[in-house]
Amino acid sequence: MTRPNHIGYGLATLACIVLIGAVLFFFLPHGLDPVSPSTEQRTGDALIARGKYLTMAADCAACHTTEGGKPFAGGLAFKLPFGTIYSPNITPDRENGIGAWSDAEFARAMRSGVGRHGEDLYPAFPYTSYALLSSDDVLAIRAYLATLAPVATPAPANALAFPFNQRPIMRGWKLLFLDSKPFEPDPARGVAWNRGAYLVNGLAHCSECHTPRNLMFARKLDEALSGGVVDGWKAWNITPDNETGIGQWTDAQLVSYLSTGYAPGHGAASGSMRQAIDLSLSLLPATDIEAIVTYLRTVTPRRADATAAAMPVGAAVKASTAWSPGGEGSAGTGRRIFEGACASCHGWNGNGQQTARAGLAGSHAVNDPQGANLIRVILEGTSAPDHAPATAMPSFGAAYTDAEIAAVANYAIAHFGGKQGQVTAKDVADARP
Ligand code: HEC
Ligand code: HEC
Ligand code: HEC
Repeated sequence: MTRPNHIGYGLATLACIVLIGAVLFFFLPHGLDPVSPSTEQRTGDALIARGKYLTMAADCAACHTTEGGKPFAGGLAFKLPFGTIYSPNITPDRENGIGAWSDAEFARAMRSGVGRHGEDLYPAFPYTSYALLSSDDVLAIRAYLATLAPVATPAPANALAFPFNQRPIMRGWKLLFLDSKPFEPDPARGVAWNRGAYLVNGLAHCSECHTPRNLMFARKLDEALSGGVVDGWKAWNITPDNETGIGQWTDAQLVSYLSTGYAPGHGAASGSMRQAIDLSLSLLPATDIEAIVTYLRTVTPRRADATAAAMPVGAAVKASTAWSPGGEGSAGTGRRIFEGACASCHGWNGNGQQTARAGLAGSHAVNDPQGANLIRVILEGTSAPDHAPATAMPSFGAAYTDAEIAAVANYAIAHFGGKQGQVTAKDVADARP
């Protein structure tokens, strides 16, 4: 299962800094500011409908609902280097969920990362982004969550090693990295741009995955959206840089990718991006998706790892037909496995056979010499949103050894990306669930 956890770096530094913070702030109580709706806030059914839409746009379900579990009952595991935490139950159950919380407590959790009893929450809950939300939006989400069926099960207890199980250590971290100012529209920009900025940086929290993080797991905001790593998956550079970002994507390609999980010429989205699209982005109105694209076009272009840049279709792909590979190509294990296990669905010419969604030409996954996302797709499989069996890609994790998967990954990188793949058997072993 995909774990949309964003944590994963050297934590010794974190421990030092936050412990100092903890000493300083341990005894300061958290304030509870009152929260009230503006005069424009909807009421009744319109408020609930608005809250439902916002909950979808914020993708609360991705983290608070487990596969096959009751909606919003929590329990999803976030594996961190120092232990495991679980997302809490946010249904209206008074004992196990948030039914007994006041609106002010809910708003404080969303925007300041503070739990009901004043405890500091871990930033696996992306309150660093939700801090931008308006009071009206927070209250609408709250109103919608209050209409859900209460679930009377507690989330499993966290299992964190000392000192990370000491919540006050997050105080020092927040002091350094949490900016609890609501979003301020830029009057010099249009409505769509401002909506896009609010979605990308706040509600849809693209920046939580697509921005690189420092050793203390805080986003490097001066490199915003230039690419991050989420649970081992690379969340590519989505700034308008021409070579390493989305500079060469057309608006239509971006809209298609964000709303359907596939863009002609760029392949299909997998991993947590796919989950964000299926559970959230594909359900948003077209105006929101267009607003996101409008905003992304104006972000400062930043150059990221050029070795992983998605290249236009290379010579080997151009020389191939659907059924036979052209060009030089290698004759080793990788090609043999590709021929037997991949070619019938993907085609040698990168167009996809039974479905265009299987087109690998231009896909970032086969252009990264390290094959980070490619290995995961091969190990875990993937499918179109309709899960049609004829086109669903099975998981190959059990069918091949680590060395064989490395070989087929390197072949796909060479054939479709025109690059020398660097995937090793150890990379595959490390990526196995
Ligand atoms: C990327 C994953 C993720 C997303 C998205 C997410 N949450 Fe959470 N949330 C968590 C985790 C993990 C925690 C537990 C943090 C902790 O224990 O310190 C949490 C904690 C909370 C809490 C505190 C509950 C308690 O019992 O202390 C509330 C309230 C909450 N989330 C509501 C929401 C809402 C509403 C949304 C959507 C707007 C949302 N979350 C989206 C991961 C997420
Ligand atoms: C939970 C983490 C997560 C969130 C939230 C997220 N992304 Fe992604 N995104 C990823 C990952 C991982 C990939 C790589 C997917 C792949 O290679 O199949 C990706 C891929 C992409 C790509 C394709 C880039 C390329 O070069 O192929 C675009 C565009 C994109 N995301 C835009 C967005 C936007 C816009 C948002 C917010 C509306 C967003 N993402 C939110 C994790 C995320
Ligand atoms: C039964 C058909 C089938 C087989 C066999 C298959 N795939 Fe796929 N694969 C698909 C489909 C369909 C998608 C796109 C799913 C979607 O719509 O999101 C896909 C997606 C992918 C992706 C991610 C999409 C992208 O553009 O980056 C990669 C990488 C990939 N396959 C590689 C492989 C490799 C390597 C093999 C052989 C080991 C293989 N596939 C075998 C059908 C298949």
